[in-house]
Amino acid sequence: MTEKISLQHLSKTYGKREILKDINVTVNDGELVTLIGPSGSGKSTLIRCLNLLEAPTAGTLTFNRQKIDYKLNRFGQLTRKSEAQAAQYRTKVGMVFQQFNLFPNRSVLQNLIDGPRRILKVDRGTLEQQAVHYLTLVGLRDYQAQYPAQLSGGQKQRVAIARALMMSPEVLLFDEPTSALDPEMVNDVLRVMLRLKQAGMTMVVVTHEMAFTEQASDRVLFLEQGQIQFAGTPQALQQEPATSRVKQFVSTLDHHLAVS
Ligand SMILES: Nc1ncnc2c1ncn2[C@@H]1O[C@H](COP(=O)(O)OP(=O)(O)OP(=O)(O)O)[C@@H](O)[C@H]1O
Ligand SMILES: [Mg+2]
Repeated sequence: MTEKISLQHLSKTYGKREILKDINVTVNDGELVTLIGPSGSGKSTLIRCLNLLEAPTAGTLTFNRQKIDYKLNRFGQLTRKSEAQAAQYRTKVGMVFQQFNLFPNRSVLQNLIDGPRRILKVDRGTLEQQAVHYLTLVGLRDYQAQYPAQLSGGQKQRVAIARALMMSPEVLLFDEPTSALDPEMVNDVLRVMLRLKQAGMTMVVVTHEMAFTEQASDRVLFLEQGQIQFAGTPQALQQEPATSRVKQFVSTLDHHLAVS
């Protein structure tokens, strides 16, 4: 297995509070790793450290086995120079957010094209072709001229996924991509994610959708109080004793969604 992205001995503190403690995560090429855990356990912080939207307080981040160097200022944030390098790095490690983060005053097509045009300096014609390709992939080929306000939540999230793909990322991170959606929209988004996994995309997903987790993930990580308390395959999770913390946590989640 080829290692894609890894965090070693990651710690993250806000002021005096240690939010993540000595976290070690390695994700291999083509793997889908899901991150579960109670509210406030540090899931978002951890996934954001993977693409330097948060600056780790300590630890080593590697991508394709190369160390990603960054420097912190006295506030614990990336220095301006490191931030510029991080922006470049994020083209390879994209993120899909719970709240979509589309530009409301731009059409679907513009939302897809603007970022890569600015950052990758690719010509408009090529980008438009790519945009149509990815919109087709997420089932929204006919929505290029629409504005975000004209779309349902599930459609917005699929546009956000298409937009992330426009950068040709090698890894995609998802932070609760379906939690803001009405139940009937959830499966549309999960199906797109499953398709990406089948196409070989490396993915890290924060989610509470256990049916998806069991069906799609190679490994599940359970985070509690800033530490990984369980790491294993969905099968290993099944075999955990009912009294284990991860099993107790999972029993509080919905299992009703089946992805097809
Ligand atoms: N910018 C910040 N400054 C100070 N504390 C923060 C900051 N961001 C997060 N925290 C704290 O870090 C802890 C972990 O937050 P995080 O958002 O990573 O949790 P989470 O597991 O994603 O929770 P949720 O399931 O509610 O999204 C929380 O206690 C939160 O209050
Ligand atoms: Mg979160």
